[in-house]
Amino acid sequence: MARSGRNVLVLHGPNLNLLGERETGIYGVRSLAELNAALRKKARELGLTLKIFQSNHEGRLIDLLHANRKWASAVVINPGAYTHYSYALRDAVAAVSLRAIEVHLSNIKKREPFRRVSVIAPVCEAQISGKGFGSYVAALERLAKG
Ligand code: DQA
Repeated sequence: MARSGRNVLVLHGPNLNLLGERETGIYGVRSLAELNAALRKKARELGLTLKIFQSNHEGRLIDLLHANRKWASAVVINPGAYTHYSYALRDAVAAVSLRAIEVHLSNIKKREPFRRVSVIAPVCEAQISGKGFGSYVAALERLAKG
């Protein structure tokens, strides 16, 4: 499928498949399926087309960026813990030259010191953190504005 300025790749990184069970005091009680449903609804309202993937594997996330680089015009990525140390994922985000927004459910600036550093953020146009599902929604709204 050809690239359209409205095509957005959404990548959820490791452990986000356990949303709703995982550390619910931090990440909430709603599941990844509920998050994806909310994103699809918002995308319809904004006129965006989404492809959404979750992986627990760094290489798989990199492969998904490569495979969709000619389809997508932008990426919304929650790299999970890879945020804090994956230079390989950072290089992949930079390599595909797409608009990229890093998102986090929790406020990574107000948690453990190791979470305050993102090695991915410098190759993204924005980092949106601490708004729960709203972090992803805000990213879609920003991309839809062009
Ligand atoms: C997270 C924050 C990361 O530090 C953590 O490793 C995650 C989730 C978030 O969405 O708040 O897995 O990316």
